[in-house]
Amino acid sequence: SSKNVVYSACTRQGITMPNSACHDPLHAIETASVDALRNLQLQRMKKTLRHAYGNSLMYRDKFDASGVHPDELVSLEDLVKFPFTTKQDLRDNYPFRSFAVPMEAVVRIHASSGTTGKPTVVGYTKNDIDVWADVAARSIRAAGGQALDKIHVSYGYGLFTGGLGAHYGGERLGCAVIPVGGGQTEKQVQLIQDFDPDIIMVTPSYMLNIADEMDRQGVDPKKLSLRLGIFGAEPWTDAMRREIESRLHLDAVDIYGLSEVMGPGVAQECLLTKDGPTIWEDHFYPEVIHPETGEIVADGEQGELVFTSLTKEAMPIIRYRTRDLTRLLPGSARTMRRMARITGRSDDMMIIRGVNVFPTQIEEHLLAIDALSPHYQIELSKDRHMDVMTINVELSENADANSDSTSAELVHRIKTFIGVTAKVVVHEPGRILRSEGKAQRIVDHR
Ligand code: DLL
Repeated sequence: SSKNVVYSACTRQGITMPNSACHDPLHAIETASVDALRNLQLQRMKKTLRHAYGNSLMYRDKFDASGVHPDELVSLEDLVKFPFTTKQDLRDNYPFRSFAVPMEAVVRIHASSGTTGKPTVVGYTKNDIDVWADVAARSIRAAGGQALDKIHVSYGYGLFTGGLGAHYGGERLGCAVIPVGGGQTEKQVQLIQDFDPDIIMVTPSYMLNIADEMDRQGVDPKKLSLRLGIFGAEPWTDAMRREIESRLHLDAVDIYGLSEVMGPGVAQECLLTKDGPTIWEDHFYPEVIHPETGEIVADGEQGELVFTSLTKEAMPIIRYRTRDLTRLLPGSARTMRRMARITGRSDDMMIIRGVNVFPTQIEEHLLAIDALSPHYQIELSKDRHMDVMTINVELSENADANSDSTSAELVHRIKTFIGVTAKVVVHEPGRILRSEGKAQRIVDHR
């Protein structure tokens, strides 16, 4: 936490700031030994389980129903004795029954949109907001940001955690934050030109939309001040990273998070390694499980990511099933473990005639074809009993290929590499619906 940071005389307009603002030393825990980290996690996990059981009606019910008590956690491995928490649990306890502090101690409430049903509600104490700002600041620094950078935030502000999470993190690091929010794409481009930000924080799909707007306005991205993009809130591929980096002349790194666990800043990819987000394990304890059996899989194996919060007060979360599919990897730039880039959410998995397909797999192949723009949307429909996947793509502005050959090329790649027959419809440039936040990749008509 910020307590480890030595204060120095580094100033922005005369304000004394943490040393990290000048020289960016890592917090002690970022370089602690694995043993020290596991020990800290165990202490914090015990405390969190006791707090959840003692103070949250939802967890009291859940632990009692499974016949477990916090005292049964003696080692980190004992966590498997405790029940998972699902989105449905949070819905069943809507809005505040999961909270573990009285409302007087809550200073912020966010909610995740959720396409169906009630939103998922999350609460924060003053200390929770403080920890969140710390991990978000740590994330921006790991991404390559530093004090005195200007950050253009295009994540949405409001109930969504993206905008405010990035905002508090940037301020905590000593940056100047420009809270633009989502939408008004023309104005985004104007402000980037006029304010000369060093960093942009936005979903990768909206970044592409902004890049198109730059083209339309005749703005050359090479001449802009942006050097770093911190992209997340939706799945994206390495192919998309290359596309964004070459088009916008910046480094693109991955930020991960979810409202139920906190918001952006649960994990962050380091600029030095660009090898998947490092999980800030001193606050969020990860497990990867087999999505059907619930059994823990070995580190390195693909499965569903599960998180237990280690320091949250208002809404501790125990073994939360994220539905995000990934692998746990050993630490690289930090001692803490990494997660592989998310392939997709289990909800987004399409089963096309028996073959499992994620939008990110389509994205990789689409981006390998120069004549196509990176915007796409997948429609699912039924032809009698058969599932049909139609991929809507569009030609890039100055493509010199025709739509028939381009469509045939994508169909061929998808058949060869993924093993499914897809229908590809190539539209004129600009016809695919543009994202201003999280892109909706799948439209299901079935
Ligand atoms: O999307 C928090 C966030 C904001 C993260 C800004 C990063 C940047 P939710 O709206 O609750 O919170 O959605 C969380 O988004 O479970 C993943 O499915 C997906 N997601 C978030 N980051 C990534 C990422 C925010 N880097 C859900 N890669 C998560 C892939 C991501 N998917």
